[in-house]
Amino acid sequence: MLKVNAAITGVAGYVPDYVLTNKELETMVDTNDEWIKSRTGIEERRILKGKGNGTSVMGTEAVKLLLEKTNTDAGEIDLVICATVTPDMRVVDTANIIALNTGCKNAFTYDINAACSGFLFALTTGSKFIETGAYKKVIIVGADKMSSIIDYKDRATCIIFGDGAGAVLLEPTEEEVGIKDALLKSDGSGKENLYIKAGGSAHPITIDHVIAREQFVVQNGRPVFKAAVSNMSNAVKTVISRNNLTVSDVRWLVPHQANRRIIETVAKMADYPMERVMMNIHKYGNTTAGTIPLCLWDYEDQLKKGDNIILTSFGGGYTWGAIYLKWAY
Ligand code: UT7
Repeated sequence: MLKVNAAITGVAGYVPDYVLTNKELETMVDTNDEWIKSRTGIEERRILKGKGNGTSVMGTEAVKLLLEKTNTDAGEIDLVICATVTPDMRVVDTANIIALNTGCKNAFTYDINAACSGFLFALTTGSKFIETGAYKKVIIVGADKMSSIIDYKDRATCIIFGDGAGAVLLEPTEEEVGIKDALLKSDGSGKENLYIKAGGSAHPITIDHVIAREQFVVQNGRPVFKAAVSNMSNAVKTVISRNNLTVSDVRWLVPHQANRRIIETVAKMADYPMERVMMNIHKYGNTTAGTIPLCLWDYEDQLKKGDNIILTSFGGGYTWGAIYLKWAY
């Protein structure tokens, strides 16, 4: 019997209309356009406005477009996984709300929290349900409304993050395409450098936390930068070598969009040419679980069946990894 592979058979994305420019950030914190562009590569990011609008609003739009593009009946979807650190609510899972909004009434759903590596972790998990033959149509969403957990008085974080969502459809194929390999890692010692103190079960939110602004993301940029560069470049190099590939066999490198300097350094350390690196950080900033599917969405018309692609990410936790896949259409 031929091996069943899990292939991405469609990709879609959604970013909100509101554009938060570096110029507008200059009016909010002590920063400037030149610093932001030269230190991060970010020119603008999108912000989801509107009372009561959570991450599911963006995930819903991405999944609606995905179903439409792939001509898929929502009732055929078996599973929806949403990677996010900004669920609409602590209880109910965001994937469940997205499934409800999009008519995926036969799907079971759950969220995955692995910060900026959430999409890679969710894609790997979803692909296993396909490879085992258990399910035929799985949707993976990477979505974050980072503006809901960012302190717009903290210049170390507010310039980086934005809101957005991407989604892919996974289906079985016996062709030699789809997800080929995944290297995924976690190291909890990174919790000192990228975290939100209050709002979880360790520190349920109180008025004192709010006064101290502890409901927002804290990041020590430099150690995170160093760990991101070394772990992503090592993951990419390992996945290339253990699949008997060379750098020239890999058509596209799709890195998590956290900082243009990180992306360039990872490419340099992996000896990978920048012209084959997907990058859209200048217009969306860091959308956490959204960055990688949003890149695939932006570059979709340049992808060809059989292209070797490596996805790589690094994020809070720490979490990181790399996935090797062959594009299926
Ligand atoms: O996606 C999840 C994982 N996250 C990441 O991968 C992010 C990793 N870290 C980074 O991308 C970078 O560390 C940052 C973009 C966060 C910061 O860039 P940096 O080059 O590491 O700057 P820094 O924190 O070392 O600060 C350099 C200087 C400092 O001033 P002094 O002490 O040299 O006088 C900062 O106070 O820049 C100052 N600074 C700023 N100046 C203007 C820090 N933030 C700003 C700002 N505008 N927004």
